[in-house]
Amino acid sequence: MPDAGNIRIDGHTLLAGVIGWPVAHSRSPLMHNWWLRQGGINGAYVPLPVAPGQFETAVRGLLAAGFRGVNVTIPHKESAYRIVDRLHRSARRSGSVNTLVFDSDGKIEGYSTDGDGFVANVEAHGIAVNGGRALLLGAGGAARAIAASLLDRGMEVLVANRTRARADALAASLEGVVVVDWAQAGSVLPGCAMLVNTTSIGMEGGAQAQFPLDLAQADPALVVCDIVYVPRRTGLLEWAAGHGLRTVDGLGMLIHQAGLGFEKWFGAKPDIGPAVEALLDADLRHPRARDAG
Ligand code: ATR
Repeated sequence: MPDAGNIRIDGHTLLAGVIGWPVAHSRSPLMHNWWLRQGGINGAYVPLPVAPGQFETAVRGLLAAGFRGVNVTIPHKESAYRIVDRLHRSARRSGSVNTLVFDSDGKIEGYSTDGDGFVANVEAHGIAVNGGRALLLGAGGAARAIAASLLDRGMEVLVANRTRARADALAASLEGVVVVDWAQAGSVLPGCAMLVNTTSIGMEGGAQAQFPLDLAQADPALVVCDIVYVPRRTGLLEWAAGHGLRTVDGLGMLIHQAGLGFEKWFGAKPDIGPAVEALLDADLRHPRARDAG
């Protein structure tokens, strides 16, 4: 085991970070720096608060200053999509970028790892993602990335969103997505193998009544996923567990979406095991978790 106390910042330190506004709540620095210490890697990962409108200036500056790349979070994922030199297929499909890699030739590569991170996390729970019907609630950036990854794995994807026009726009740009009226989502639930909540209802402490469906009607094999991880046990997951349904919470997606960036910037595969999950879980129980996302 490398000695964590020996890591120091010097002229060889590999640098990366997360750009967001706000960004203080992000658990990515905790996770990446823990991985760096575990791997004995001379690297550092810092939070980078960048106001809207300053995104491109900040990225060009980080590139010039020798950073290896950055994660991008709210509200910059679409700006990131626009400034990259090379768009990975994952980013093109999801219409946003959450991971920038600065190449040695000065070019910026953009990836979206949210969708594959979601799938990898579900698979890590021993659940195969290779067919059947998924119902996605919500039509924001996360829903789009997840829909693309589920379609890639041969799943049928239905999307229901409170604002129907947003679901229609998602379906127009992702071939194969079928839109269901928010109020009608309950009618398609019985044939579904997977239900994914990508709305922020759970973050707001939302109740069962806010979901347009009744889990009592679900197939007993339904897997219920929530991408919200604060709180870890959302109202939807508690409700699903009450019906004996399998559940997958959002913390694992946070961990899995981070792996690709870490590997590209720091040249090693991070340990996506229970230890990092325990580290984050303990941190989320801390009072500052109240203002986090
Ligand atoms: P992200 O990019 O992380 O997906 P987002 O773009 O802000 O986040 O999307 C949030 C999603 O949560 C949207 O689908 C939103 O629905 P609308 O498009 O109708 O706004 C959904 N959402 C948020 N609060 C909701 C609520 N109380 N009931 C239903 N849907 C809600």
